[in-house]
Amino acid sequence: MITTTHILKKKRNEKITMITAYDALFAKIFDGEVDMILVGDSLHMSFFGESDTLGVSLDSMIYHTKAVCNGAKESLVVCDLPFGITQDESEAVKSAIRVYKETKAQAVKLEGGVEVANIVKGITNLGIAVVGHIGLKPQFVRADGGYKIKGKSDKEIEKLFLDAKALQDSGAFCIVLEGVKSEVAKEITNLLEIPTIGIGSGVDTDGQVLVWSDAFGFFNEFKPKFVREYLNGASLVKDALKKYVSDVKSKNFPNESESY
Ligand code: KIV
Repeated sequence: MITTTHILKKKRNEKITMITAYDALFAKIFDGEVDMILVGDSLHMSFFGESDTLGVSLDSMIYHTKAVCNGAKESLVVCDLPFGITQDESEAVKSAIRVYKETKAQAVKLEGGVEVANIVKGITNLGIAVVGHIGLKPQFVRADGGYKIKGKSDKEIEKLFLDAKALQDSGAFCIVLEGVKSEVAKEITNLLEIPTIGIGSGVDTDGQVLVWSDAFGFFNEFKPKFVREYLNGASLVKDALKKYVSDVKSKNFPNESESY
């Protein structure tokens, strides 16, 4: 089983791989192939069909994390803490405790930098591993007026450095850098002792994460520039489905060997 120690040791040695999963079926396929499986709150968009991640509940995150843990025996499972819980420090700590008690996830992830440093400290002090998430934070999409790339201005760059350092000092064992200008992500990666996991942040982070339904062509509402589509999943499934429907209609399915 991959542990946080394995992930830390990969810094400056070997790229770290991470992908999202929301159920046991796909977790089983991904298990052992990637270092970490993230039960991201992106499930509220790609799995539940909402337009952003903000409405997902802790109960839903726990339900999906339990499912992923049923499928993943080797890869390190991370559960995203949903929007709203970091407003209140004790609520956030209680939420992380619930995740650890009710699922077999090895870590929780939360969005934010300096402003959540105390929460990260409170959670890690309890022995719960934390993944940070800075740069483009999807939970701030409404406040930011859209998905905005970070690290374009000196002010943004300074904030990113402060955030990254604060998360490291508070005990996070790695940090997701989302939508950060490549050269800034590289500098942050070089500065930190803990690994950075990039998404839309160039090639120089310590690892990469993608949302599985983006990477395998199942989520086609919009396609950010950073997504590489490794499979045309939706169209393959649709073709197979059409074949099934046609076989049923033509009485080609089931045949004798498929009948009792
Ligand atoms: O929710 C999610 O899937 C994420 C990734 C985009 C890192 O936070």
